[in-house]
Amino acid sequence: MKNVITFGTFDLFHYGHLKILQRAASLGDRLIVGVSSDSLNFSKKSRYPIYSEKERLDIIASLKCVSKVFLEESLELKKDYILKYKADILVMGNDWKGKFDCFNNICKVIYFQRTPSISTTEIIERIRI
Ligand code: CTP
Repeated sequence: MKNVITFGTFDLFHYGHLKILQRAASLGDRLIVGVSSDSLNFSKKSRYPIYSEKERLDIIASLKCVSKVFLEESLELKKDYILKYKADILVMGNDWKGKFDCFNNICKVIYFQRTPSISTTEIIERIRI
């Protein structure tokens, strides 16, 4: 049984989110997704996500390719989450390229190319105009 883990905010769920989750799931038997908490997002970006953590968790948990979701409460706990969920592979988008290579000793770290021309920030900006 091969476990794959990934992390993200997944606010205003969009096609780029779907693609990375499907690709991550295809690498193993179970995909486990850490959805970042509202307070973690506030501390990083000084704004809360549009969708609450409960809504984001529910959306991700309902996807066919996802086996389990949990709330990511702190960026410093990545190693603990990887060990707790017995992840064999960590998948991140290539906006994080190199940043998680330090976990190569506990799991395989894979960066996927982001889907071009879409992001939550861009959607918010387009709707605002
Ligand atoms: N992602 C992707 N392709 C995109 C957008 C996101 O593969 N076009 C991936 C990210 O690399 C990450 C995961 O989806 O691994 C969750 O990303 P998140 O930061 O929640 O989404 P973004 O759309 O990048 O949000 P923002 O614009 O707020 O940074």
